[in-house]
Amino acid sequence: MPRAKKSRDSSRLASGVSAIHAPFYSFRHDPGSRTAAPLQLSCEGVALERIAKSAKTPTYVYSQASIESAYRILDRSLSSLPHTLCYAVKANSNLSVLRVFGRLGSSFDIVSGGELDRLGRIGVSGDRVVFSGAGKSREEIREALRFPGRDSRSKGILLFNVESESEFEILLSEAGKILSKGGSPASASIRVNPDVLAGGHPHISTGHHRHKFGMTWADARRLYLAHQNSRSISWRGISAHIGSQILSVAPYRRAVARLASYYRDLTRQGIALRFLDIGGGFGIRYTKEAPLDAARLARTLAPIVRPLRCRLLLEPGRFLVGPAGVLLTRVLFVKKTGGKTFVIVDAAMNDLIRPVLYGAVHPIAAVRQTLGSPASPAIVDVVGPVCETGDFLARGISLPPVNPGDLLVVTAAGAYGFAQSSNYNSRPRAAEVLVHGNRFRIVRRRETRADIVRAEL
Ligand code: LLP
Repeated sequence: MPRAKKSRDSSRLASGVSAIHAPFYSFRHDPGSRTAAPLQLSCEGVALERIAKSAKTPTYVYSQASIESAYRILDRSLSSLPHTLCYAVKANSNLSVLRVFGRLGSSFDIVSGGELDRLGRIGVSGDRVVFSGAGKSREEIREALRFPGRDSRSKGILLFNVESESEFEILLSEAGKILSKGGSPASASIRVNPDVLAGGHPHISTGHHRHKFGMTWADARRLYLAHQNSRSISWRGISAHIGSQILSVAPYRRAVARLASYYRDLTRQGIALRFLDIGGGFGIRYTKEAPLDAARLARTLAPIVRPLRCRLLLEPGRFLVGPAGVLLTRVLFVKKTGGKTFVIVDAAMNDLIRPVLYGAVHPIAAVRQTLGSPASPAIVDVVGPVCETGDFLARGISLPPVNPGDLLVVTAAGAYGFAQSSNYNSRPRAAEVLVHGNRFRIVRRRETRADIVRAEL
């Protein structure tokens, strides 16, 4: 696997051009180019122009090496502690992306029966699945209890992260049915709300007592103790998830210190847990942020967690797939109106909702670039064809002159990009491409118009 190093050329790009921070994307000199822009952006060993030619646009492109590297960095950083990484499927649930995690030996965090179904399709066994989420239905709980285990006799998943007493009642009754048929008890933990405020945007912050997630410690403790001797449920852990795009270790320190004290309390009460699930939320670089420092996180958590002799579960999503992906899009028009310049591209808010939904900033760069700085950049809005003013991919950014037909990339789009896309304006959802070394594969074909209306009368 060639390691795509940050090209030296990228430091000599035209001034004002957003540099690409993604480690497996680099500008390379195209000797065959007869244009004034001889540098072109590649993902690993594949020129993005090649991908656009074959898959058309808009297309999400993911670097497999980037995913693998992020997974290994996190895994190695935590090597001094017994731990299991459970990739949060919601961040990017493409089957081929999930297979990459499967091969890395990752476990998985799911929040729906649909995500469980995806794992079933790629042959992941239940002992590698943690089920989170505030609204699990009876049907979903049943499916998880019957999910094939590691061998032909075992069934069920590693851990249910219970979020309410009512959900617990359903789990209890369904697990009872399994037990009466000779099955084993369901393995459960309670998601406790640690009352810690963290996260990149109010919509993605989850660990405060005013949020809908988890249970207060008082309620959780009562439930743990009331069902201490249950035959159908076995308490195996305690869990939390405090938010997303968290850049500092401080909120984790606070949340995990609280969880650890609850863990010890339960141990004293005779409930011997095994898992401490700290959720996900590890932040990445979009513009100038320093990503969450995994080594520092491990150093911070070690003294709190080690004395418990537990296994740490982590549910990272964005950290593993965010930097790996870009959204490749083509310029349709450049429109000057009202004293502003709009670059209208063929990707829209239905393809990437993060800018308007969370005020997220995803740097955008041209795929073809010049050496030096011959043309002065302009301040533009990059917008899509959808009929809403909220349909923008970036506002007020500096971009060198672009023309209809030019390719752009919206960077750091591997997490919550395609996963949150829709058919709004009856637009077919984008294609997805996975790059591996010098090869690429279309791992989700572009939707057709027939796909869009398939379920309708
Ligand atoms: N575990 C649980 C229980 C979660 O709810 C989440 C994300 C994760 C793990 C993974 O979080 P991550 O490591 O990816 O931050 N759509 C938003 C992010 C929503 C996150 C929801 N929960 C965005 O585009 O920023």
